[in-house]
Amino acid sequence: MKQIVLVVLIIFTGQLMAQGDAEKGQALSATCMACHGTDGNSVNPIWPTIAGQHPQYSERQLKLFKNGDRPSATMMPMTMALSEQDMADLAAYFGQQEAKLLAADPAKIELGEAIYQGGIKDRDVPACLACHGPTGQGNPLSGYPVVANQHAAYMVNELNLFKQGRVVPGKDDVNGKIMADIAKYMTQEEIEAVASYMQGLQAAE
Ligand code: HEC
Ligand code: HEC
Repeated sequence: MKQIVLVVLIIFTGQLMAQGDAEKGQALSATCMACHGTDGNSVNPIWPTIAGQHPQYSERQLKLFKNGDRPSATMMPMTMALSEQDMADLAAYFGQQEAKLLAADPAKIELGEAIYQGGIKDRDVPACLACHGPTGQGNPLSGYPVVANQHAAYMVNELNLFKQGRVVPGKDDVNGKIMADIAKYMTQEEIEAVASYMQGLQAAE
């Protein structure tokens, strides 16, 4: 019940975003390649793939890194010198790139799929597909990121950061609190299984 109320709220929290220019973003992307790859497919599974991510989501994350609301010793210096327009341009560029297909670990699919599709009922964990979609494509208008083809190792790390209570300050920031509220009820085994399952999700043809 609590989750249903959240979903309704989020639809009305549309943030003001600059219009991104992908060509300008490409010109700025050289510094990002060492970790996120030339086309946004990261070269190490502990770093996120940003190819194909919704620009609205990526732009928001860049702003959060810059102002310290999403603490990251790596990304804060990367965003320090970027203007709001630069962030919108970079997000537009990487959003147009295609994410490489990844596969789930067969040993983790059963548990991962059960959580993704049905949540964990006795612990108030909602089905992930309610927001991230049946094929992991998220929802750009609501700010729900793509999780399909995202590296499981990165997502395990993120879910643990959420679990430790990494919340974005600001009373109107609904999105920043959602995942902390979900991850805190999940065990490490459950986090690893659902992350592996999400890594293997693919958009329906
Ligand atoms: C030295 C490696 C490195 C470089 C260079 C780098 N990043 Fe990152 N990036 C990371 C890491 C690590 C994270 C995850 C941070 C965390 O959550 O702690 C990240 C996270 C992100 C995210 C959030 C992804 C998500 O799914 O939430 C975006 C967007 C991003 N980077 C964009 C960029 C852009 C644009 C540049 C170039 C201006 C850049 N990065 C340069 C390592 C790097
Ligand atoms: C009510 C909507 C909602 C539900 C349900 C939900 N999420 Fe999320 N999720 C979000 C939002 C919003 C964000 C981005 C948070 C932000 O921008 O600060 C997110 C971010 C994430 C991320 C980080 C992605 C990245 O690129 O850094 C992961 C991983 C994730 N969710 C996994 C899950 C899993 C696993 C479940 C199910 C157990 C789940 N989510 C259920 C809304 C939801």
